[in-house]
Amino acid sequence: MSLDNCKLITLPKIVDRRGNLTVVESQRHAHFTIKRVYYLYDVPAGAERGGHAHKDLEQLIIALSGSFDVHLDDGYKTTRYTLNRPNNALYVCRMIWRSIDNFSAGSVCLVLASTYYEESDYYRDYDEFVRSIREIQ
Ligand code: TYD
Repeated sequence: MSLDNCKLITLPKIVDRRGNLTVVESQRHAHFTIKRVYYLYDVPAGAERGGHAHKDLEQLIIALSGSFDVHLDDGYKTTRYTLNRPNNALYVCRMIWRSIDNFSAGSVCLVLASTYYEESDYYRDYDEFVRSIREIQ
């Protein structure tokens, strides 16, 4: 549940004159079972997404197109990743506050998630998230 567990993964890239191909397999490249896929697109300039943490959900975040910044916070420290390659995936473990900004025009953010959508899995209040982290550790 710390930033030390979050990391950038290099996915296979099959280079071809006809265009490149990248694959993500459940339980192999993603170290969890992928139950849900969603994507952010048509993000207006200056917009911020995320701004929450998850109690159980783990995910991979991929810049399918363009670039954006992912800010992670484990309640003690923060870090920032710039995603700009479709064969890089950022693994985010449970109990990490995240926000995404600096979307380039036309960028697409793909998320592979370990759970179905469940609003009760969210912390949407930062102070509540930090209180929970302090209680657990
Ligand atoms: P949210 O997770 O807050 O978006 P983001 O973190 O990308 O900024 O979700 C935004 C809205 O979309 C919210 O009303 C819940 C809904 N939603 C679903 O219905 N299913 C989903 O799988 C996701 C991710 C969101």
